[in-house]
Amino acid sequence: MSVHRIIIDTDPGLDDAAAILMALASPEIEVLGLSVVAGNVPLQDALINACKIVGLSGRTDVPVHGGAAGPLVRDRVLGKYAGIGAFDDRLVPAGQIRPAEENAVRFIVRLAREAARTGDPVTICAIGPMTNIALALVQHPDVARGIGRIVLMGGAFAAMGHRTPWAEFNVYADPHAADVVLRSGVPIVMMPLDVTFKTLFTREHFEAFRRGGAAGQALSNLFTTFDRSDTARFGRPGGPIHDATTIAWLLRPDLFKGEDVHVGVELMGVTMGHTYADFHNKLGRQSNATVITDVDQAGFTKLLIERIGRHGGARSQPMPEA
Ligand code: RIB
Ligand code: CA
Repeated sequence: MSVHRIIIDTDPGLDDAAAILMALASPEIEVLGLSVVAGNVPLQDALINACKIVGLSGRTDVPVHGGAAGPLVRDRVLGKYAGIGAFDDRLVPAGQIRPAEENAVRFIVRLAREAARTGDPVTICAIGPMTNIALALVQHPDVARGIGRIVLMGGAFAAMGHRTPWAEFNVYADPHAADVVLRSGVPIVMMPLDVTFKTLFTREHFEAFRRGGAAGQALSNLFTTFDRSDTARFGRPGGPIHDATTIAWLLRPDLFKGEDVHVGVELMGVTMGHTYADFHNKLGRQSNATVITDVDQAGFTKLLIERIGRHGGARSQPMPEA
């Protein structure tokens, strides 16, 4: 079995928590560490949340590094649910994990350089605003040689934006960082709202998370307490777990469909953070990303629930239908 060696760059965040726990339960993935960024919540709260989630998994070997407290250029914006702040101890018990001394950007640079030296590039799963990654690439362009691929949750193409009518949050929160990543030459797989909105999770699924021991119960507590279901918007019950699509793609790329296209991002004005793709290559530019446009919803749902279940020793059990 080939193992993906990954850094998770994250702004936890409920769906980040699902992605992190999914990765930590998967033997196909070696989580080298978390680099944390402000986004859903301010940096200090994101750090507390990241430490709590890793602590719940029992993976004391996985370091959590604090990074950027705000974007490269624009004003800082936080997620719609920023009020959640640090996860309440009654929902997610505090653990023993504390942030590492090393800054997240230094951590990314150090690991990417080691990877370049050993010829074993790392994968970065970018599931928050991409400020840490952009800083590493801008300050030390050589690190691109040690990053084999960036699998990012971000952008919106045929789907409307949800933070503004034209922009998805991770890109909107730091469009200049997204632009640096898109221009970096590092192979990119993008999970935009077009695909993350296709799979909706309901209370039945959150209940199934509870098979995953303390970690699964905490995840279920979070999704039940801060339920994102929006039947008016989606026309059916449930809400998305955006970030878990990046881990699911690493585990089962066959569950997804995508196209290699040239992608750009708007950096100013009312459409700041809007991502656009030349799906028919009208301009003849080289593609810089594989944009994922479709997913096997039942397969993704089953995979996420099964992996969360592993935190409680659960093995494959009958899954709720998607
Ligand atoms: O737009 C969804 C993204 O923004 C997710 O990564 C969510 O956690 C927030 O970071
Ligand atoms: Ca996130």
